[in-house]
Amino acid sequence: AAPTDYQAETATISQGVVESNHAGYTGTGFVNYDNLVGSYVEWTVTAPAGPADVTLRFANGTTATRPLDWTVNGVSGAVGITYPGTGAWTTWATKTVRLQLAAGSNKIRARATTADGGPNADKLTV
Ligand code: GCU
Ligand code: CA
Ligand code: CA
Repeated sequence: AAPTDYQAETATISQGVVESNHAGYTGTGFVNYDNLVGSYVEWTVTAPAGPADVTLRFANGTTATRPLDWTVNGVSGAVGITYPGTGAWTTWATKTVRLQLAAGSNKIRARATTADGGPNADKLTV
């Protein structure tokens, strides 16, 4: 099926805020993860069963990578995926992980694992 966009600003957010002060996002804004371990964004994605390419559009205006752990329906899918500096908070990049999805509704969570929190998150494309 054609890829579908799932905005971060309309996903479930734990320890993060929706902002729009850095240009270049899609939709109506992006999520600024709180800079701490455990902040997350969780998208609900409907899909057929099987592997899926899951692409996060992000920005990281620092020089330190911001790793995320990915889970699907509470099960680990990808650990320690790094989101490097993009040069500016207004410069957005994408990175794709392959996750095993279940048929129907999937809760795809991207959780920060360092005290820096995650990168700013614009959207997920699946
Ligand atoms: C700045 C920036 C935020 C970003 C934050 C961070 O405050 O404006 O968008 O999330 O740095 O370092 O995480
Ligand atoms: Ca932040
Ligand atoms: Ca967005």
